[in-house]
Amino acid sequence: MAIILGIESSCDDTSAAVICDGVICSNVVAGQAVHEQYGGVVPELASRAHQQNIIPVVHQALKQAGVTKEDLSAVAFTRGPGLLGSLLVGTSFAKGFSTALDIPLIDVNHLKAHVLAHFIKEDADDMDQPKFPFLCLLVSGGNSQIIRVDSHSKMEIVGQTIDDAAGEAFDKCAKVMGLPYPGGPVVDKLAKLGDGDKFKFSKPRIAGYDYSFSGLKTSFLYFLRDELMNDTGFIEKNKEDLCASLQKTIVDILMDKLRLAAKDLQINEIAVAGGVSANSGLRASFEDHAQKYGWNIHIPKFAYTTDNAAMVAITGYYKYLEQDFCDKSVTPYARTSI
Ligand code: KG4
Repeated sequence: MAIILGIESSCDDTSAAVICDGVICSNVVAGQAVHEQYGGVVPELASRAHQQNIIPVVHQALKQAGVTKEDLSAVAFTRGPGLLGSLLVGTSFAKGFSTALDIPLIDVNHLKAHVLAHFIKEDADDMDQPKFPFLCLLVSGGNSQIIRVDSHSKMEIVGQTIDDAAGEAFDKCAKVMGLPYPGGPVVDKLAKLGDGDKFKFSKPRIAGYDYSFSGLKTSFLYFLRDELMNDTGFIEKNKEDLCASLQKTIVDILMDKLRLAAKDLQINEIAVAGGVSANSGLRASFEDHAQKYGWNIHIPKFAYTTDNAAMVAITGYYKYLEQDFCDKSVTPYARTSI
């Protein structure tokens, strides 16, 4: 049996998970409330919190999985992309742990891990996984990409954002409305009470499958500035409709390009991944597309949408099967592609 310990520390969540032959055995995530008061992640504080959290989180993950460290076959860790200081904590721990246990070390690309989260099995009989080739819409705070996935290791970016990511668009527009960080989940909640057709915001006109969200952000900002000149209570009075209209615009932008790519590449096996895939409007639109266009859709469990070590462990598991290990002198990288 292959028992993989996964470690994730790329941003502000410290996480450890155990996957046994592809089946999830534990997934422990410690968030960092310290950033809330700053309205965003403070890198230096994130690294320090990772240092405090990493040992208890790993301990908990092993305990919940009912395994000891001696049972482990390999240690997989997020090498990047992410915040360098945060990545260093997970990387150093994984290196030390694998050296002490004399087991292989496996470096994992965080973006690939988001995509491979779809292969985490809830039990040995779980067969609900995408078939190759499939398209994955990866939408998070730092990425908006359409990825063609041909195997567990072969992936290619078909389209991506040329400026802001979808999550950033949610967060920045939420900030303009005075909503707390991160804005995405708050916009989602308020949008459920509003009318998505009440306000219209500009959509980008870009060729191909690439995205752009900076124009929407500006159009949203100017729209509010003009309305606030007439009525200082405009945001408060229209908060739900503003959120619903903003969410509808972002979802439409994401789905228009995904639909185009699916049609051109003739792929109807479609998945979504990353923090923004928790969005209820995006999930509903996926269901609509499944009905209308015969898509076979794959939407991850909420626990696997945000940063988590289960997706790192499953990616490590597939690399373990290929004996694709890394050297103990490995260093993390802040930026990289898929
Ligand atoms: O993948 P993720 O957890 O982390 C990074 O990108 O590092 O994604 C976080 C992003 C944030 O921008 C957050 O606002 C967004 O995902 N997000 C959502 C929702 N939940 C999280 N956006 C819209 N609706 C949601 N329900």
